[in-house]
Amino acid sequence: MTRRKLVVGNWKMNGLRAHLPQVAAIGAEASAHGAVEVGLCVPATLIGMANEARGGAFIGGQDCHVKATGAHTGCLSAEMLREAGATWVIVGHSERRADQGETDADVAGKALAGHAQGLKVILCVGESLEIRDSGEAVPFVLAQLEASLPEGAAAQWLSIAYEPVWCIGTGRIPTMEQIAEMHSAIRGALVKRIGEDGNAMRILYGGSVNAANAAEVFAVADVDGGLVGGASLKVDSFGPIIEAAAA
Ligand code: PGA
Repeated sequence: MTRRKLVVGNWKMNGLRAHLPQVAAIGAEASAHGAVEVGLCVPATLIGMANEARGGAFIGGQDCHVKATGAHTGCLSAEMLREAGATWVIVGHSERRADQGETDADVAGKALAGHAQGLKVILCVGESLEIRDSGEAVPFVLAQLEASLPEGAAAQWLSIAYEPVWCIGTGRIPTMEQIAEMHSAIRGALVKRIGEDGNAMRILYGGSVNAANAAEVFAVADVDGGLVGGASLKVDSFGPIIEAAAA
């Protein structure tokens, strides 16, 4: 099964008009490496402007509400993201699970809300350091996946990102053996849940991916690309990660 590598930058709460030249430069890198699917999930305020500058990269949002409209001050619907120019959305990032108290059921609903608007979805799962140290990382992540994956999930529109919470923004990454073990377990769970299409679904690794470790991480079996935070903000650090995925 060949799965096209997917490398996505998660800009989190970073990105102003002044950063549009970085979007353009990353978009040019994406155009130069068409074998890899490249995207940037930017703050919603930047989606429209980033879309003008995106080159060969797609533009996505970082969250959407479960509902289409309503009295939810400060929230954004999937349709709003789509209208602004997004074609993808991240759901279930650990920062939102922690900061906004999002549950697995919320995450499944958000994934369906994105899909209903034609957005492609990156669904995040991952364990805390406490769970990793307890030896329960694999069963924890599989339970989170089972509860967060919506009915009807398909490889054509949904990808998984495995992001150990203790590796996000910390400069730490698991051993390649730990990454391989988790990605293989996720693959098995996907096939069990959705059948053969589970073999086509992309599973990204996320958490302190950088130019120095990307090639090694992307070479691990069942790692189909990366979700990249800090290193995705500038083409100088994100370009080499795209190149590593293309190699
Ligand atoms: P990081 O973030 O690459 O800065 O560790 C990854 C993420 O949160 O998606």
